[in-house]
Amino acid sequence: MPTRILLVGAGAIGAFYGSRLACAPNTAVSALCRSSYKAVKANGFKVTSPNYGDSMFRPEHTFGSPDEAKQAALSWDYLLVATKALPDVNDDSTLLEGLVGPETSIVLVQNGLGVEEPYRKRFPKASILSAVTIASAVQPNHGSITHNRWTRISIGPYLPHLDSGSTTAEPSDDTATQKNSRLVELLKAGGIADAELYDHAGLQFVRWHKIAINAAMNPSSVLSGGTGNQEMSTDPELSRHLLAVMNEVLETAPKVLGKPLPPKLASAERILGSTKKNSSGSKPSMQIDWEKGNRLELEVILGNPIRIARDKGIEMPRLQSMYALLRKAQENREQAKESKL
Ligand SMILES: NC(=O)c1ccc[n+]([C@@H]2O[C@H](COP(=O)([O-])OP(=O)(O)OC[C@H]3O[C@@H](n4cnc5c(N)ncnc54)[C@H](OP(=O)(O)O)[C@@H]3O)[C@@H](O)[C@H]2O)c1
Repeated sequence: MPTRILLVGAGAIGAFYGSRLACAPNTAVSALCRSSYKAVKANGFKVTSPNYGDSMFRPEHTFGSPDEAKQAALSWDYLLVATKALPDVNDDSTLLEGLVGPETSIVLVQNGLGVEEPYRKRFPKASILSAVTIASAVQPNHGSITHNRWTRISIGPYLPHLDSGSTTAEPSDDTATQKNSRLVELLKAGGIADAELYDHAGLQFVRWHKIAINAAMNPSSVLSGGTGNQEMSTDPELSRHLLAVMNEVLETAPKVLGKPLPPKLASAERILGSTKKNSSGSKPSMQIDWEKGNRLELEVILGNPIRIARDKGIEMPRLQSMYALLRKAQENREQAKESKL
C-alpha cells in the first residue's frame, strides 16, 4: 500500500509540498480543493520552481468537497492542512470530520501560534504534527503554483502535555514521533533537502521565531500603507519598530516556553540585516491579502501570541497596539462591505 496523503487546502504551500511528496517513492498524494477544483481536476497543478524546474503534479484523487473525500472511504496516513489559518472566520478542523482514522496524522503547515489546538480538541486521539515553513510560493491562477524561493520546512510532533513540565509520555507520543520522522524522510526523498526534524519543544520555538518575523513584517506593512519588506527595513523609524517587535517576541518566547531560545535561531538584528539585502520587492502576505480584500491571519499571528503570553502574566505591548488597530480596521472594512450589499 502506498503512503496516502491528502492535501486539505491545496493552495500555494499545500500544492508545492504536495508536488514534492508525490515524487517520494510509493507515495500517493490527493487534494481537497475549493475554488480551484475544476482546474485541478481537469489538468492537475503546474508547478514552477527555481529549484525543481517546471513540473506537472496530478493528484491521485481530486475532491471538490469534504463529503466527496469522505465518500472515497480511503485510509489516510497524513492529512496535510495548508489552508490560511483564520479561526475567527472558520474552524477548518471540521473539514477533517470522517477522514481521520486510527493511522491518520494531521499535519498543520500554517503560520501562527495556537493553530494546533482546534484539531487537538476535535481529534484528541489523532497524532498531530506541527510544521513551519519559510518557503515563498503563490498561486497566481487556479492550478498554477509559482515557487519563488526557499524550501525549508521544520516539523515536530505536537505534544502539549509536555509543556506543563510533565515527563510522563502518553502512549500516542511514540506514534506521533515516528510519523513525524517518516514525513521528514518523505519530504527529503521528494527533494526537500532542508526538511528538518524537531521535537515538540524545539518546534514550538521555531513557531515563535517565525512569529517574530510575521508579527513584525505583516501588520507593519498593512499599517504603513503597503510598504514592502526591504523598504520597511531600511526606513529609519520603521526599522527601529521592526527590531523592537521582533525582540519583544524573542524575549517573550523563552518566558512562555520555560527554556532559553536555541542559539541556532537567528537574532532580530540578523533577520533585519538579511531583509535589508532582499531586493526582490516582496511584500508580506498579509499586505497582499489586505489588497485583495481577504481576511487576515491576524488572530494566529498577533491575537494568539498576545493571549498565550498574557495567560503567563506577560504583556506584549507592541503586538497589542498593532493587533488592536488592525483588528478594528478589518472590522470596519467588513462592515463597509456588508453595508454595500
Ligand atoms: N505562501 C507562502 O509563501 C507561505 C509561506 C510560509 C507560510 N505560509 C502559510 O501557509 C498557509 C497557507 O498559505 P498559502 O499561501 O498556501 O495560502 P493559499 O495559497 O491561499 O492556499 C490556501 C488554500 O486553501 C484552500 N481552502 C481554504 N478553505 C478551504 C476549504 N474549506 N476546502 C478546501 N480548500 C480550502 C483555498 O481555496 P480557495 O482558493 O477557494 O480559497 C486555497 O487554495 C498560511 O498559514 C500561510 O501563512 C505561506
